[in-house]
Amino acid sequence: MRKAGLLAALAAVPLLIAGILHAQDAPRLRGPEPFTKEVVAPPMQRAITNDVRVRRNYPDQPPLIPHAIQGYEVSLNANKCMACHSRKYTEQSQAPMVSVTHYQDRDGNTLGGLAPRRYNCVACHVPQTDARPLVENGFTDMDLLTEMEPQTGRGRPQ
Ligand code: HEC
Ligand code: HEC
Repeated sequence: MRKAGLLAALAAVPLLIAGILHAQDAPRLRGPEPFTKEVVAPPMQRAITNDVRVRRNYPDQPPLIPHAIQGYEVSLNANKCMACHSRKYTEQSQAPMVSVTHYQDRDGNTLGGLAPRRYNCVACHVPQTDARPLVENGFTDMDLLTEMEPQTGRGRPQ
């Protein structure tokens, strides 16, 4: 019993080493320079602000922000986002209204105003930049997956 355990542990060693070597190949956010060297920060990436609403990757995804948000205050005193996205102001702003979930607490009770857990909009909604991705993204849209499925009817709801 003991021997088997030892053998298993030994067998894991090459895997561990391979893992460490692989981790070193992975792109690092701070770039190729060692952390002991001070380098000039790269310029900020340009935000995409073309006002074109982005398709969601799945129905419950918080939609991405397609406009500039620089300088928009979200603090104890003010929530700039709600100056356009609240029900009251959508007519004059022509912004899509926050959905009803933003007025509900976690138990599904509808509140009189914006739910505190939905106050900090940018915890869930983010703008995009035109930066080159650090790693390739292999995400496949659900619709594409169902299109590729052979039309046998198997595994489909009756
Ligand atoms: C001056 C009005 C205004 C303000 C302030 C504003 N928005 Fe918007 N927002 C819009 C409009 C109008 C759209 C529709 C697309 C467009 O024109 O950019 C939009 C679109 C969006 C969308 C995309 C919705 C969808 O269904 O695709 C999100 C998410 C969003 N805004 C979040 C925010 C957040 C978060 C803030 C605060 C940091 C904010 N907005 C502040 C006007 C505003
Ligand atoms: C905890 C995460 C979270 C926070 C915080 C949050 N949202 Fe959302 N938001 C979502 C999700 C998830 C959706 C899509 C599903 C839904 O409507 O619930 C969404 C949808 C939206 C939509 C699209 C509504 C529609 O019917 O198409 C807008 C606009 C929006 N949010 C704006 C905001 C604004 C403005 C704030 C800040 C006041 C905010 N959200 C805060 C998660 C969040």
